[in-house]
Amino acid sequence: MVYSKEFFALQIEAAKAVAALAGLPIGRALLDYTNLYIRFGLGRDFNHSHPIWRRYVDGVTRSADVCDWTYRFYLAQGEDLRPAATSACFSYAMQGEEHVRIHFRNAEPATTSPLSSERLPARLGELRSIFGDVRRAGNNVKGVVGTSWLYNLPAYQRCFPASYIASARVAEPRYRHVSLWGQFLDRNGSLRHGVVRDFKGRLERLTGLGDLALAFPLQALAVEAPIADFYRFYGISADGRRTSA
Ligand SMILES: CC(C)(COP(=O)(O)OP(=O)(O)OC[C@H]1O[C@@H](n2cnc3c(N)ncnc32)[C@H](O)[C@@H]1OP(=O)(O)O)[C@@H](O)C(=O)NCCC(=O)NCCS
Repeated sequence: MVYSKEFFALQIEAAKAVAALAGLPIGRALLDYTNLYIRFGLGRDFNHSHPIWRRYVDGVTRSADVCDWTYRFYLAQGEDLRPAATSACFSYAMQGEEHVRIHFRNAEPATTSPLSSERLPARLGELRSIFGDVRRAGNNVKGVVGTSWLYNLPAYQRCFPASYIASARVAEPRYRHVSLWGQFLDRNGSLRHGVVRDFKGRLERLTGLGDLALAFPLQALAVEAPIADFYRFYGISADGRRTSA
């Protein structure tokens, strides 16, 4: 997905507010309180000395229009413009040897919400395929973990076993991640204006950085459940095939 310029503008505005509240240099606020480092395709080590990040921050301090500079930099980096390796909305990665971590991104054509009831069978099919692969791999997986604002939404919750959703706990603030910032986006990468208005209002009223998490209408939730619950929920037998149940 190519994210909209306004998504970057929103994060820059928030970083400026954080910098003013906490007396931080703007480069530091952009690194620690926005999703920009990841969006530039620089990985997840958040190294303020990374040469590409340094080049970006130098441009920020010199630029008359930070938003314009940032968006041009993002497009030039091209991370989100590459064709996706999969057409599915769900993907997974191993976290250590015993846990599967679930990821979500919109891979549907623009007209359809990937979370609509119409598309629920497709989402469940993707998850069934993932957990079939995990089971067939015959490894040591014991559990499934996830962290996202999406776990607040009934339309997302219904894709998963009840035990996984019931385990939800508010995660440490995920200021650098789309697992928090994603709540401001619609399926096309544009902003959801009602939610953004709410956020900006709360941001203006902040008196200290300690309350920053509360400016976000939804918090990222951390969830976890045993892998057996997933095999049961998606009807996956011991050989990784779909059961008739
Ligand atoms: C998830 C995503 C596709 C939803 O966008 P969309 O399809 O345009 O959203 P819709 O307006 O059709 O909403 C779908 C449902 O979610 C709800 N919803 C979506 N965003 C919401 C928000 N910010 N706050 C509250 N509810 C929200 C809607 O009310 C709707 O619920 P309903 O079906 O029960 O009425 C979009 O936010 C997105 O792509 N975000 C970036 C990806 C992301 O956040 N990934 C997380 C990685 S961990």
